[in-house]
Amino acid sequence: MSSGEAITSVLQEDRSFPPAAEFSEQANIKPDEYQQMWDRANEDSAGFWGDLANENLHWHQPFETVMEGDMPDTKWFLGGKINASYNCIDRHLDSWRKNKAAIIWEGEPGDTRVLRYQDLHREVCKFSNVLKQLGVEPGDRVTLYMPMIPELAIAMLACARIGATHSIIFGGFSADAVAERNNDAQSKLVVTADAGWRRGKELPLKPAVDESLEKSPSVEKVVVVRRTGADVNMVPDRDFWWHDLMEDASADCDAVELDAEHPLFILYTSGSTGKPKGVLHTTGGYMLGTTMTSKWVFDLKEDDTYWCTADIGWVTGHSYIIYGPLSNGATTIMYEGAPNWPDEGRFWEIVEKYKVNIFYTAPTAIRAFIKWGEEWPSKYDLSTLRLLGTVGEPINPEAWMWYHRVIGQEACPIVDTWWQTETGGIMMSPLPGVTATKPGSCTKPLPGVVPDIVTKDGTSLPDNSGGLLVMRKPWPHMLRTLYGDHQRFLDTYFSEIEGCYFAGDGARRDEDGYYWIMGRVDDVLNVSGHRLSTMEVESALVAHEQVAEAAVVGFPHDLKGEGICCFVTLTSGAGSEDLKQELIGHVRKQIGAIASPDQIRFAAAVPKTRSGKIMRRLLRDIAAGREQVGDTTTLEDYTVLASLRESDEG
Ligand code: WT7
Repeated sequence: MSSGEAITSVLQEDRSFPPAAEFSEQANIKPDEYQQMWDRANEDSAGFWGDLANENLHWHQPFETVMEGDMPDTKWFLGGKINASYNCIDRHLDSWRKNKAAIIWEGEPGDTRVLRYQDLHREVCKFSNVLKQLGVEPGDRVTLYMPMIPELAIAMLACARIGATHSIIFGGFSADAVAERNNDAQSKLVVTADAGWRRGKELPLKPAVDESLEKSPSVEKVVVVRRTGADVNMVPDRDFWWHDLMEDASADCDAVELDAEHPLFILYTSGSTGKPKGVLHTTGGYMLGTTMTSKWVFDLKEDDTYWCTADIGWVTGHSYIIYGPLSNGATTIMYEGAPNWPDEGRFWEIVEKYKVNIFYTAPTAIRAFIKWGEEWPSKYDLSTLRLLGTVGEPINPEAWMWYHRVIGQEACPIVDTWWQTETGGIMMSPLPGVTATKPGSCTKPLPGVVPDIVTKDGTSLPDNSGGLLVMRKPWPHMLRTLYGDHQRFLDTYFSEIEGCYFAGDGARRDEDGYYWIMGRVDDVLNVSGHRLSTMEVESALVAHEQVAEAAVVGFPHDLKGEGICCFVTLTSGAGSEDLKQELIGHVRKQIGAIASPDQIRFAAAVPKTRSGKIMRRLLRDIAAGREQVGDTTTLEDYTVLASLRESDEG
C-alpha cells in the first residue's frame, strides 16, 4: 500500500448462517458465556488470561505475574514453571485417558498406527533420553525435517520435554533451504527420515540433509527414521538410525520444569525482504493460546475424533495437530500423504474410516475438492462430521458454500480461522455455538484479542473501510522475537503502526463488527495458504548465471489462490522453452517445490520507479492479464511496458 488511504473493498456478501440450537446447547462456549468472557477480558485482561492459565494448564510451580511490559516485549506467566510435553501427555495419564488414542496415524500406503497416551508417553520419554545421550541440552536447537509420521510428533514432544527448541522444516523445502535454517538457528542435531511417501512415490529427505550439512557446520549429529526403506548413505559417528537408538533407551524421563518464557520452538516463515524469519514461540503463553482456542473454536469434546489436514511443517500443524489438541486430551489424526492418492476420495475415505467429527483444512484444498467433483465425497459416509474449519487464506464465498453443502451436508458450522505463524494460535474466528457465520468472513476476534483497522498513521477507520489490520493489545501466544534478530522483529511488526502489532494484512470491518481479510499488503505471496516472499524467489532466480534481473509477483490462481509469475531479464541471448524449464527447476532446487513458478516471462527490462523500486502493481496487472489502470507517471522507461505485455505466458 502506497498511501495512508483506505483500501477499496469490492466483496459484497449478505448470506448469514446462525448456529443451530442443538449445536449451541452442547457447545463448550454458549452465547451468554461468550459475552461474559468478552467483558471480563476487556475489563481485566490479566485476570482473564491468568485464570485460564491456572484452570487449563499444569504448572510445576505457579506463576507470580500474568503479564509484564507492554507490546512489543510483553512477558507472560513470570515465575511459573511449566513443560509443554507434560501438559500434552503426562497429565492425562492419571485418568482413564491413559488408554485413549492420542494420535491416530494413517500412512499414505494405508499402514496405520495408533498411539494411546501411554504409548506416546513411553516413546517420547525414550526419545528424550536419546536426545540427551546425543548431547542435546536445554536451550539447544534441534531441526526436524521429516515426513508426517508419528516419529515427528514424538520428536517434537521429546524436545519440549527436555527443553530443547525444535525448528521444524517442511519436507518440501530443498537442501539449501534446510542449510539456511540450520545456520540461522545454529542447530546441533537434525532428525530426519530416509524418505516419505507422496503420491505413491518416495520423497527423499536424507539426501537433502546430507547436502545441507556441507553448508551448515553447526549440526553435529543426525538421527534417521527408516520410513520407506530407501537406500541412504549413513556417515559413521554422525548418522544414527532411530530404531537402533530407541532400542536401548530408557522409558523413564522426567519433564524438565521450564520457565514459562522458555523457547519452545522456532518456525521459519517468509517476510518481504531478506532471509526467512525465525518466529520464536515460548512455552507458557503458547500453550495457553493453543489449548484455549482448540477448546473454544473446535468445540473439542472427550469423544471427538479430530482431524487437521495440515502438515506439521507449518504452524497449523504445530498448534492444531499437536500442541492444542493433545493439551486438551483429544484424539488427533495425522495423515502422511496426498489428498489424491490413490484417488481423489482419500480424505473422505479417512473421514469414514475413523468416523471423524471435526475436520480442519485450507481453502486451497477445498478448491481442489471442488475441481475433482462431488462424486468423490458422495461415495463416503460423512455423517459423523459435526464441525468444519478453514485456515490459510481468505475463502471465496462460493468455496465456503460448497464446503457447507457438500462436506458439511448443511449441518455443520464452519469456523473460518484467521491467524498467522506469528500469532501462534487462532485470533479471529466464529465460536461454533455462538457466532452467526457469513461466508468469506473470519467473523470476530476471540475474547482477549483486540484488533483494529487503521490507516498508515494509526487512525482507526470506520466500518466498511478497508485498511491495515493491527492488534492493539498483547496476547499470550504471540511471537516473542525473530530468532537472532530482535531488531528485525521490532521493525517488521511494531514500527509500521505506532503502539500496535501490524499483521501485514489488509482488512475491513463491517457494520456487524465482522472482519473481512483482504490479503497481504506487503510483497508476500500466499500460495496454497503458505506465505512465500517474492524477494526470495527473485534472489533464487538471479542466482542462475543467465539471469540478470528478476521481478516476481502473484496472480490469481484457481487452485493455489495465488500463482507465481516471474519476469526475467537475461544476461545475454534469448529465452527459450528449455530455459524456462531450467529456471523452474532452479527455483525448486533453491527453495523447494512449493515455490515452483507458474509463469516465467522473459522481458527486456523490468519497470522501476525513479528510486529503483520494482513496480509490482503494474506487473501484477500484466501477470493477471488485466489492462494497466494504475498511475505510471513515475515509470522510468515507458517502452518496457509494451514489451512486458508481449512477453508470452508460460
Ligand atoms: C497469513 C498467515 C495461520 C496458519 C496458516 C498460514 C492469511 C490465514 C486466514 C483466514 C484470510 C488468512 C493471512 C495471514 N490467512 N488465515 N482465515 N482468512 N486470510 O500461516 O503462513 O503465517 O500466513 O495467511 O494473510 O496473514 P502463515
